[in-house]
Amino acid sequence: MTKKRVLSGMRPTGRLHLGHYFGALKNYVAIQDTHECFFMVADWHALTSDYADTSNIRENVIDMVIDWLSVGIDPKKAVIFRQSEVPQHSELFLILSMITPLGWLQRCPTYKEQLKEIQNKDLNNYGFLGYPVLMASDILLYKANEVPVGEDQLAHLEFSREITRRFNNFYGDVLVEPQALLTKTARVPGLDKRKMSKSYGNSILLAETDEDIAKKVKTMYTDPLRIKATDPGHPDGCVVFAFHEIFNKDAQTRKQECINGCVGCVKCKKELTEMICEFSRPILKKRQELANDKKYVEDILKEGSLKAEQVASQTMKEIREAVKL
Ligand code: TRP
Repeated sequence: MTKKRVLSGMRPTGRLHLGHYFGALKNYVAIQDTHECFFMVADWHALTSDYADTSNIRENVIDMVIDWLSVGIDPKKAVIFRQSEVPQHSELFLILSMITPLGWLQRCPTYKEQLKEIQNKDLNNYGFLGYPVLMASDILLYKANEVPVGEDQLAHLEFSREITRRFNNFYGDVLVEPQALLTKTARVPGLDKRKMSKSYGNSILLAETDEDIAKKVKTMYTDPLRIKATDPGHPDGCVVFAFHEIFNKDAQTRKQECINGCVGCVKCKKELTEMICEFSRPILKKRQELANDKKYVEDILKEGSLKAEQVASQTMKEIREAVKL
């Protein structure tokens, strides 16, 4: 049986945090064996909002790929590549932009939301409006059957499906309608209980030192109603407990201990610190090795981009033929 093909991408935001791992990367690692995987660094997508200062972009690409490799994404199993090294993405973006009704983009919920919420950047640019068109190009060039995405990207995936139908309707059945690959992922809260996010400054990176992890866990909010360790605790809604649910196989026991006042917040945090450190140590070690060999990382991207281009250029040939160019 041939494996289903998957394409997914991430914008290069630099070093990744635990939210990225439990929300997406863990699943990337798992599907490498069951699917034919293309994992893309979406550096053109980064430009849609961060066009004014691109000084960190190359470094961010490398940092992100180092994290991918450190958690076990394997270039022997998956094609790891950089969007901007495969020019076909821009060609399909151009063609799709011809058949994209403006209303589809203007109505896109993520577009409206970000336009309203992001105040520190001017997002009134053509590229930002066209974000879903570029993302559709990424997916359709590989005729990907499935796209692992988080809930926040579902509207974009829906756009890809709609534009596929519109294209095939005009020019014949060339493109493949992609499906969302929704997997159970753990939602990782930030240190302050909001969603873990680099821009909130509330994250624990994937590879941090023991000391930094300890410092960060200490800043987690604890139950103000608990004066003494023997007071009954409230694990529901407690950040420390939310992390126990991710890292502690025995989280249910901990829940009871907390409710019954058998364990105090200080001890609970100490144990959590140790569990996160244990998870992080091998990743940190791998990251340090790779950080000393950036050429190796660049070579992986180059090789991956060549492989990606082979597939992309074949699809582009079919597309040009269908559109009669
Ligand atoms: N928009 C995605 C994000 O912000 C990144 C992305 C770009 C992507 N191209 C893609 C994801 C193609 C899946 C498929 O997370």
